[in-house]
Amino acid sequence: MANEREHPAVGIVGATGLVGRELLAILPGSPLGRGAPRLFASTRSAGSTLPWRGGSIPVEAAGPDVFGGIDVAFFCAGGDVSRQLAPAAVKAGAVVIDNTSAFRMDSGVPLIVPEINGDVLDASALPGIPGIIANPNCSTIIALMAVTPLHRAAGIKRMVIATYQAASGAGAAFARELEQQAEDHVAGRPYTTETIGRQYLFNLFSHDSPIGPDGYNQEERKLVRETHKIWDDATPAITATCVRVPVLRAHSEAINLTFNEPLTEDAALKLLAAAPGVRIVDDRDANRFPEPADATGLDEVLVGRIRADRSQPPGMGLDLFVCGDQLRKGAALNAVQIAERVFAMATTAARTAGH
Ligand SMILES: NC(=O)c1ccc[n+]([C@@H]2O[C@H](COP(=O)([O-])OP(=O)(O)OC[C@H]3O[C@@H](n4cnc5c(N)ncnc54)[C@H](OP(=O)(O)O)[C@@H]3O)[C@@H](O)[C@H]2O)c1
Repeated sequence: MANEREHPAVGIVGATGLVGRELLAILPGSPLGRGAPRLFASTRSAGSTLPWRGGSIPVEAAGPDVFGGIDVAFFCAGGDVSRQLAPAAVKAGAVVIDNTSAFRMDSGVPLIVPEINGDVLDASALPGIPGIIANPNCSTIIALMAVTPLHRAAGIKRMVIATYQAASGAGAAFARELEQQAEDHVAGRPYTTETIGRQYLFNLFSHDSPIGPDGYNQEERKLVRETHKIWDDATPAITATCVRVPVLRAHSEAINLTFNEPLTEDAALKLLAAAPGVRIVDDRDANRFPEPADATGLDEVLVGRIRADRSQPPGMGLDLFVCGDQLRKGAALNAVQIAERVFAMATTAARTAGH
């Protein structure tokens, strides 16, 4: 395991996808990137290579027998692949950090945003013991980075979220087709709709996840359930409307909050200014607030339009607008932060044990 080596051996399942490539961009700046990771994808990409520190690494076909010697396995190849292969990785001795929704709501699986509930990991995960840790849904992470400090101060009674989600949140093929539609537009051709099934450029549409019998789509349900699990508190009433907008990268969310206890606009501003991983962009004079183009490539979640909700009694409601890079904090960065925390715990435990 990690604690017996100089650095943990890392594997990425889904390395050729958008989240996988973002992991490859982040890892060189992390202690987890001291050694070259092993890269896995489908048989379609096996034999290709991906760049790493000025060189390249071959991509291998993922399968149940590939995980020997891997300490930390990042999974970002979709829920089916995680369900199929993550147990094999755990059996081979790896800690799995899963970016899909496959295990998020399983009772034994921690669902972690390190700035918010990283302590759950410290309390529940025994260093060096393989298992699965889930990375939450990207819209959930981005919302909770801003809302949790306010929840801790005043208690959220009700939260209403409207999302404006980027194309790349649905994977490489989706993002590519939005770009293709832009090329089609310039060329005066009919829009290519093979992947998305509709005009996306100059349009927006209800989130492309399945709708349940109650009329909520899966993304909206994830926002509610995952928030309750991360906060370990199912009392806040939460509703959401999730929408895809023709933005390539970084999700935006309009969030309306009702508090249990009064919280002024100024107090909220102070809390958000001190919150780790949050950057305030709230220039009313210049009418400049968070924008996905500005959030793209950033680690922090941008928060602005911070204002008292005047439809509620003074101090009892607040409106916010947040933008966050869903490939970084919404996926790859959060996953690396989880793994770094596990690795640090394992190293500390090894030192304590006198290794
Ligand atoms: N995109 C986001 O912003 C985001 C944010 C949070 C969570 N997630 C989740 O992360 C996962 C990956 O998303 P993505 O956007 O990176 O998707 P993507 O760009 O479509 O990439 C999918 C990856 O999965 C691999 N793959 C597909 N089928 C496979 C199989 N049978 N065996 C092994 N590998 C296989 C693909 O390999 P090939 O190149 O060989 O096809 C590719 O590397 C999804 O579960 C998604 O819900 C995504």
